Amino acid sequence: MSSIPSPHFPSPSQFKFADDWPRHSLLATALLDATNTLGRWRRRPELLGWLSDGHLRAQDAPVLVPGCGSGRDLPLLAARGIAVTGIDYTPAAVALTRERLARAGLVAPLVQVEHADVLNWLPPAPVGAVIERTCLCALHPDHWLRYAQQLHAWLLPGGRLFAQFEQAPRAEAAEGWVAGPPYHCDINAMRALFSADRWAWPKPPYPRGAEGDHLTMVLTKLNE
Ligand SMILES: C[S@@+](CC[C@H](N)C(=O)[O-])C[C@H]1O[C@@H](n2cnc3c(N)ncnc32)[C@H](O)[C@@H]1O
Repeated sequence: MSSIPSPHFPSPSQFKFADDWPRHSLLATALLDATNTLGRWRRRPELLGWLSDGHLRAQDAPVLVPGCGSGRDLPLLAARGIAVTGIDYTPAAVALTRERLARAGLVAPLVQVEHADVLNWLPPAPVGAVIERTCLCALHPDHWLRYAQQLHAWLLPGGRLFAQFEQAPRAEAAEGWVAGPPYHCDINAMRALFSADRWAWPKPPYPRGAEGDHLTMVLTKLNE
């Protein structure tokens, strides 16, 4: 297991809601599990679409999934022979994901789960693809720039970021509160964070995805 530095929590005075993400995350993991049993989110239609239309290929492996949570993307890739590494700093999420993968007979080196902070972790070598699905919105915006730099550093030139940016606008934001998690991933903020001098963007508008709450797009890391 990777060593895990202290989580990057902003002080509660910086925003309205206590940012106790491990606690939120345990609850979120339980909720996600319950939702899984309903089947609505299990399908991962965008990921399956990227796999079936060849956007996401075995040559991109290993694929990284930061903030993998209960790890639902991992078996979809591993079952197709695409090596994948999930990263999460919540012990319960890591344990649950590892247990699920073991039960499915999916093992290292095809699939791995790192217990680590995405703000500090580095892969052994740059990779061809990263799936960003609701890790960014779990981070306080004070850490967004660092996270975006990490995603950039993890990818090879020409590597792709398969992004699903959570849409969770908050009324309090208009009153000046920095509210979350989840923190709303406004498209203007995304354009500034993943700036056009470092990333190739498809043309807008960006679809909201089948669940209706994630702006979905593939960004490509530019050669520098
Ligand atoms: C909303 S969940 C998303 C789970 C998964 N990507 C999915 O789509 O089902 C966000 C996850 O990010 C993880 N996370 C938040 N901040 C993190 C950090 N700094 N390092 C590693 N994981 C983090 C949380 O533990 C949580 O499991």
